[in-house]
Amino acid sequence: MRCLDWVVVWAIDMANGSRIDPWSSDQSTDYGRIIEQFGLGTVDPNEIPNPGMLHRRGIVFAHRDLDVVVGCMNSSEPFGVLTGLMPSGRMHLGHSMVIEQVKWFQQQGADITVTVADLEALATRGTSLSKGRETAIKEYVHNYAAMGLRPESTNVYFQSSRPAVQRLAFSLGRRTNLSEFEAIYGFAGDTNLAHVQAPLVQVGDIIHPQMDEFGGLRPIVVPVGVDQDPHLRLTRDIAQKTNWFNVKSRKSGGLTVALSVQDENSLAFGVNPNGRVDRETRDSVFSRMEESIRDLGFSDILSNPKHGTMEVPAATQSDRSKIRMSMLRLEREMGGMGLMPPCSTYHRFAVGMNGDKMSSSKPETTIFMDDDVDEMTKKVNRALSGGQPTVEEHRRLGGDTSKDVAFQYLQFFFEEDDAALEDVRRDYESGRLLAGEVKQLCIDGASEWLKDLKEKRQQWEGQLDDFLAPDAN
Ligand code: TRP
Repeated sequence: MRCLDWVVVWAIDMANGSRIDPWSSDQSTDYGRIIEQFGLGTVDPNEIPNPGMLHRRGIVFAHRDLDVVVGCMNSSEPFGVLTGLMPSGRMHLGHSMVIEQVKWFQQQGADITVTVADLEALATRGTSLSKGRETAIKEYVHNYAAMGLRPESTNVYFQSSRPAVQRLAFSLGRRTNLSEFEAIYGFAGDTNLAHVQAPLVQVGDIIHPQMDEFGGLRPIVVPVGVDQDPHLRLTRDIAQKTNWFNVKSRKSGGLTVALSVQDENSLAFGVNPNGRVDRETRDSVFSRMEESIRDLGFSDILSNPKHGTMEVPAATQSDRSKIRMSMLRLEREMGGMGLMPPCSTYHRFAVGMNGDKMSSSKPETTIFMDDDVDEMTKKVNRALSGGQPTVEEHRRLGGDTSKDVAFQYLQFFFEEDDAALEDVRRDYESGRLLAGEVKQLCIDGASEWLKDLKEKRQQWEGQLDDFLAPDAN
């Protein structure tokens, strides 16, 4: 399918309210509806340790299982971040939002894995692998370094040169089918097969850091724009399908662990080829489960090996993740994959200079990481403003911050100080500050930001290999 067709499919489906297209350049901004429709959690900055600027301002607005990651932060347990970039154009401010978050996670103790989606760029944009590689390093990795990602705990790899990711993509592909892809992505008979493979490779990207050779079992959080949520839903769904043990709420309080008998584990679970349950094997599985759960400090455990369930009446919802974790560990010991569904966070999209969507194919709509101060100044001066047509009206009615692009750029990128930002908001909305003055504040902030970034890029020149994983060299 070509780009335009995508937009059409997406538009039709958005009207039906059922689909987000990750490859469309269109962007829905009905965040409330997205939260409701896809069952996302909302982010409460008060529940996050050292919330960053994007959390405090409601720009990172939704999540799945972020509490699991926050639990790791609070108890200094390991967790990882996986993020990906499509190496098919210049890096702009919109892309920097994810890196801001990655940096924050890194400061809270996360290890970082960065996917260069060179296979996806080939599949969906026709970018050759060698061109993708060059763009990834020059444009993206270089700016990530300049933004302050630390190389010691950052690993950049390429989809095309990490066999473990491709192996996962292939084997996890058994857990889904074309109808599901049709429903999630709108794929049809004329979709090229590389494009069909791309989401599976992304599933491999997201899952693989939990494998033993890439850091082992630990929560992995994926910070993305909402447009990437279909991939997260698919990955979570597939990971759950592979799980040998399910942890569910128990009707009369507590949690229940239930065996999920599948081809891969039926022998290990004591299900004979004739369907009969082998008591001895089943009992020994249950004693291992029981031991794992006792190790967590529970003593009241009701086992029902015949039905394949084990109840833990005293367990609360907040015990769920440690019980799940110990069952995944046991699954791995028994020969299963033991995959945790990924956690995720979602950020709002920054608007383009014209107040519509930002697009790298329309350079006037966005600020690029290597724009010089003159280019940036021109763009900001032409940006959509929330000011009134005349000074008199403006003084009387005040500016509209919800429309004003310069104000929003201060909010998203250039004014880190919350109190200073609120001063600007108050003065602008009351009419004390004029639109041109807000633009100047934005230009001042952006100039400093861009100059600093440029300086840092120069410092990193020639040293980017520090960020690359061994298989990326
Ligand atoms: N699909 C992403 C994009 O369009 C790139 C990507 C590939 C990615 N694998 C990923 C993003 C894993 C997050 C996690 O930009």
